[in-house]
Amino acid sequence: MKRRLEPELMEDAAQALAYAQADFSEPNDLFLKLLAAAQPGTLHGARALDLGCGPADISIQFLTTYPLATCDALDGAAAMLALAQEKLQRLAGVAPRCRLLCERLPTPTLPAAHYDLILSNSLLHHLPEPQVLWQTIRSVGKPGALVVVMDLMRPASAGWVEALVETYGSEMPEVLRHDFRNSLFAAFEPQEVVAQVAEAGLTTLEVEVVSNRHLAVIGRLPA
Ligand SMILES: C[S@@+](CC[C@H](N)C(=O)[O-])C[C@H]1O[C@@H](n2cnc3c(N)ncnc32)[C@H](O)[C@@H]1O
Repeated sequence: MKRRLEPELMEDAAQALAYAQADFSEPNDLFLKLLAAAQPGTLHGARALDLGCGPADISIQFLTTYPLATCDALDGAAAMLALAQEKLQRLAGVAPRCRLLCERLPTPTLPAAHYDLILSNSLLHHLPEPQVLWQTIRSVGKPGALVVVMDLMRPASAGWVEALVETYGSEMPEVLRHDFRNSLFAAFEPQEVVAQVAEAGLTTLEVEVVSNRHLAVIGRLPA
């Protein structure tokens, strides 16, 4: 099935609010599990970057799990970052270690070879040009930095898209079901991601299928 783009930034306030209020604990827990498996330990002093952070749920869960780490949480949508800011205001133990950056990728403002850890969940499928993500990771990660990227993967047919929307979207408000459907059509197939990573020269990263609707790209940048 051919890829069908969806709007890149989630700038609409109602859409952002519905997303921020939704329960994504299952995929978010999976993301943190993949990180823990790739990097056991405390991540003492680690500087992380969360690309396409949305309402910052992953950044917050990361900083709660790793109290000795810091995180720059980046998103191009001001509406999402406002919701992230609200969540952080209620979390005194996390907020001082989380910096929100309103930037649309690609951006020249991120420091080169700076981060120990690069996280990204559900950004890749929003990008019309996927190299934007891979080239950013290449540029801002320190040598040997750990990369954990997770995203939806595109099903083989429109019927399979509907089956996933029925299974996982039945409790969602209509605006989110609509977004979930569009996201599945906009996502990449695992083989496409393998080709993207190779094109970016990120041959140390591995692409894995991690659920019936998610893939992950995990590994370290060359030392
Ligand atoms: C589906 S949300 C994922 C949010 C969060 N990572 C999570 O796991 O819940 C995708 C986010 O990527 C952001 N985004 C899309 N394209 C972007 C770009 N080029 N630069 C920065 N953020 C972008 C959107 O605004 C949106 O907030």
